[in-house]
Amino acid sequence: MLHYEVIVYTGHRVCSGTLNHVHIKLVGKDGESHRTSLSSLRIGGGSVSTYTISCPKSLGELILIELDKQHGYLMPDDAWFPNKVEIKSPEGVIYTFPIHCWIGDKETHRFREGKALRVFDESNSLGQYAREQELCRRKADYGWEQAYPGVPHCIEADGPCKLPHEVQFSFTKTTEFGFTAIAALTELELKGLEHDHHNWKHLDDIKRVFCNKHTVLSDYVQEHWTEDWLFGYQFLNGNHPTLIQRCKTLPKNFPVTDDMVVISDCSNLSNELKQGNIYLCDYKNLDGMPGNIIHGVQQYLTAPLVLFYKQPDDKLIPIAIQLKQTPSKDNPIFLPTDSEYDWLTAKIFVKSADFTEHQLNAHLLRTHLLAEVFAVSLLRKVPMVHPLYKLLIPHTRYTLHINELARTLLIGPAGIFTQFAASGGQTMTKILERSLSSITYRSLCFPDDIADRDLQDVPNFYYRDDGLKLWNIIFEFVQGMIQYYYKRDEQVQQDSELQIWIGDIFEHGFLCQQQTGIPQSFTTVPELVKFATMVIFTCSCQHAAVNNGQYDYGAWMPNTPITLQRAPPTEKGTTSKATMLMTLPPINVTVQGIAAVWLLSRQSSDFVPLGHYPEDHFTERTPRQMQKDFKTELDQLSIKINERNKSLKIPYTYLDPKNVENSVAI
Ligand code: FE2
Repeated sequence: MLHYEVIVYTGHRVCSGTLNHVHIKLVGKDGESHRTSLSSLRIGGGSVSTYTISCPKSLGELILIELDKQHGYLMPDDAWFPNKVEIKSPEGVIYTFPIHCWIGDKETHRFREGKALRVFDESNSLGQYAREQELCRRKADYGWEQAYPGVPHCIEADGPCKLPHEVQFSFTKTTEFGFTAIAALTELELKGLEHDHHNWKHLDDIKRVFCNKHTVLSDYVQEHWTEDWLFGYQFLNGNHPTLIQRCKTLPKNFPVTDDMVVISDCSNLSNELKQGNIYLCDYKNLDGMPGNIIHGVQQYLTAPLVLFYKQPDDKLIPIAIQLKQTPSKDNPIFLPTDSEYDWLTAKIFVKSADFTEHQLNAHLLRTHLLAEVFAVSLLRKVPMVHPLYKLLIPHTRYTLHINELARTLLIGPAGIFTQFAASGGQTMTKILERSLSSITYRSLCFPDDIADRDLQDVPNFYYRDDGLKLWNIIFEFVQGMIQYYYKRDEQVQQDSELQIWIGDIFEHGFLCQQQTGIPQSFTTVPELVKFATMVIFTCSCQHAAVNNGQYDYGAWMPNTPITLQRAPPTEKGTTSKATMLMTLPPINVTVQGIAAVWLLSRQSSDFVPLGHYPEDHFTERTPRQMQKDFKTELDQLSIKINERNKSLKIPYTYLDPKNVENSVAI
């Protein structure tokens, strides 16, 4: 008899072990073993259990293993989470089979040996069969659903608990998430704020919403929110650094003139436009969108235009604001020289529009929903043994679960956003639809986006500085990985799974809209490298940039109002402190908004930072070394960012690799 040594590694997650009967079968090129029980040893969480399987003759090169788990009459079904199985053959060859998923049913599950194989590498019919069967099963487990017309399709599921086990939150994550939500809402309830429909009487009263939940930056914002330089700073390094662009020519619908704005004694607006010192934020995406109705009260959402000037001291300050897109007498251009409350009210309307544009377009659509599309397409169309699956699957962790939660708790019929945001309800769908139509592939690729917005040389733009470095590090890593498996363009063209994957993304993510410029197929290795870089960057860095500062800048509601309940002023000189307080959202709406951003800014304790790969999907030496090098590069960048931040009044930490999660998970 010949003996195979089998080592089973069970994961360290809560409840990852099983008391059920586990069986294994080894399948090689020259035969297969008997289905053998592994139940003689208890398979506990974090255990490493060794078994011997004897065969009358060599099985040849091992292709796959089959695992199944059965519960006895007296034994309840007990899901099992194996990490991997290692097998030493009688010939002394060691094979590794990565698993990293829950086995909850009684079905037979096949797992391939760890060496990555493209579809045309499959020389064995067993391997080919296992590949097809796996995709068949995945197609059934991960269906597409159109939740909203004109919006990227999402996973078909009746809530997060109905998702396949392998993509659900861990026990730790579920518990922490639930606890944070309940604790925040209980605190509001105890303070009697959750059901208080009154307006705020004094701004200072807002400080008591979460007086024990603050960050250094949220305190700073509370103190300085009315200052023009902090208003300007946020468009570069706040939650929403993706809208501002250099302005060389004023839009026709924004008729600011030289004599309106004060630049300096020796210059004017026309000169500064030519010099490249003028910047623009245009919220045209929100034009014509009706405001929500909250507790029977009409809400207001505007589509402002904001002009900024980069001063000689490099501060970016707002110099003109028009709150609606069409210029007219009742749509004045507000200026810093107007009365204190005219100017402040105009800035509040801009920040409220910015809340909507940031949350719906930059955050929800361009990171959460696209990351879900990348994840579902990968799960449906690419088998585990494919190098692209191994490369991208860590960047999809928890994305389907958090998005299912968002569809229930935030944007569902009873969601916080639907009930309490100016753009809640039908308007949200319209904005998302419009946003998707105007998305471009270039805007998803960081260096192209910065170039297209002409922001290469703006000073103190840390989002750009850190983002470009991260893009380059990810690009180098992805290029190394892809070129290891694809030496020539023809191999990319030949890989039907790769082509089907990108076709699925184009169809379900971008709804076949050609003007987006999203690739519909790959013809060259560099095309594939760029797209995979964009996927990893979007799921990790871009999400961190637009997600992690939500509480820093949103905890002080007047800086980021979720909605506004008075129409924008139609003439100057009609505002006051009293009208401002009547414009800001009432108490209960304010506290719901703040509770939401608190929850969405919390880092969970099982956070996996960018470049950490606790699951060994790759087993070959070269790709594993590339993963280590990637992590080293990220660690070095983190040190540099920390050094840089020491000299900044407001440290920019959102793109420090240590704070960037591998995937959209919150
Ligand atoms: Fe998020």
